[in-house]
Amino acid sequence: MNSKILNSQFSILNSQLYHMSERLVVTGSQWGDEGKGKITDYFACRADMVVRYQGGNNAGHSVMFDGKKYSLQSIPSGIFNPKTVNVMANGMVVNPVSVIAELEKLHNQGITDYQLYISDRAAMVMPWHSMLDGASENLKGDAKIGTTKKGIGPAYTDKYSRLGLRMGDLLDPEYFAERLKAALEVKNMELKMYGLEPLDYQQVYDQYMEIAKILGPRICDTSLLIDDAIHSDAKILFEGAQGMMLCIDHGTYPYVTSSCPSAASISQGAGIAPKWIENVVGVAKAYCTRVGEGPFPTELFDETAHEIRERGHEYGTVTGRPRRIGWFDAVVARYTSRLAGIDYWALMLFDVLSGLDKVKICIGYELDGQEVMAPPSTIHKLAQCKPIYIEMEGWKEDITGCKSYDELPEAAKAYVRKIEELTGTKVGIISVGPDRSQTIMISESLKAF
Ligand code: IMP
Repeated sequence: MNSKILNSQFSILNSQLYHMSERLVVTGSQWGDEGKGKITDYFACRADMVVRYQGGNNAGHSVMFDGKKYSLQSIPSGIFNPKTVNVMANGMVVNPVSVIAELEKLHNQGITDYQLYISDRAAMVMPWHSMLDGASENLKGDAKIGTTKKGIGPAYTDKYSRLGLRMGDLLDPEYFAERLKAALEVKNMELKMYGLEPLDYQQVYDQYMEIAKILGPRICDTSLLIDDAIHSDAKILFEGAQGMMLCIDHGTYPYVTSSCPSAASISQGAGIAPKWIENVVGVAKAYCTRVGEGPFPTELFDETAHEIRERGHEYGTVTGRPRRIGWFDAVVARYTSRLAGIDYWALMLFDVLSGLDKVKICIGYELDGQEVMAPPSTIHKLAQCKPIYIEMEGWKEDITGCKSYDELPEAAKAYVRKIEELTGTKVGIISVGPDRSQTIMISESLKAF
């Protein structure tokens, strides 16, 4: 698609749609699966544009409204609002086969009217990526990362080794052919090394040229779209995937994903200047969960973990794996709040804690006989950290119908205030159930978005 034309058309659209200059970031602040889908969806209803800036179809966004559940993997959460422009930006790794499958599923659920654009500079997930992801996980044995096996790591690896193909290559068949041949020369050797069948050039070429026919019209320079939206006073929502403890730089390396979910990576991943990033909402569960391997200081192995898992339906959206459960970790929350400049917490699945006699919050770690207030850099040391807890009264009341902070039981309010005190960050949103309507908006400035 000619992005110049698209851009000017977009400008015309802008002048009719946009009302107020504001940008909002929704980023996961634990180990992913914090409920970002719901919060993003909440704001997406008001946003003119929703932008995904990292990750790929390793993410699982569940959105529930009007009694129906929708699952998204790589498509931005604004897809349900026909007026919202959805952007899959250059920082993502886009699996076009998965995008087409997601769109088909949405069509079957009645979602047929939407706007979706994909960056021509986004790295493309190719068939060998998931094969290599699975093979390298198998080879690692007990040391496996526990990846989603969607090929995310290998796709980012190819991007940085400059062997990758990009979505824009699909629009230029000759160039695509050249890049595919070059990549396959190396990748087929790697596949053979793992004892896997090499891929046939012609078959992959034909498959991707079919994909180009379907997705081609959606591929453009999305940084222009976003820039145009910024200068047209659009409301833009930047939607992070995964969580900051899975960040390639600041997470529990090597048990991390291959991108940076933080607000810090938006500028590069969306192709806009850092000065445009503002209003960061850190999404955090009222407890913690983690899928895959890696240290998890507040992990619980008792009946409480089972109770929380069942009540919170804590099973992976993408892989169906049971999630590991732990108490709220204020060390992690302080760390991610600092790194991403979180302005407000969205405290999710708060209703899941109802019914527990006591609730705990981790306020620090004990490491080598000393109290530490931030996660150490190595998982070796993190695994040795012993959580220091405070224990608070639980609450028995069902809070799923609460519409305001004031309606919450006193013990629940005390829990919220303690999180604010320990993290130095206000709780702006509380989620008390999966439906859109079960959302308590506390922050006036977030209400104004
Ligand atoms: P990958 O992103 O598939 O390479 O997986 C690397 C790690 O990130 C594994 O521990 C995954 O379980 C985890 N991970 C990736 N995406 C998500 C997500 O959306 N939610 C939670 N964990 C994730």
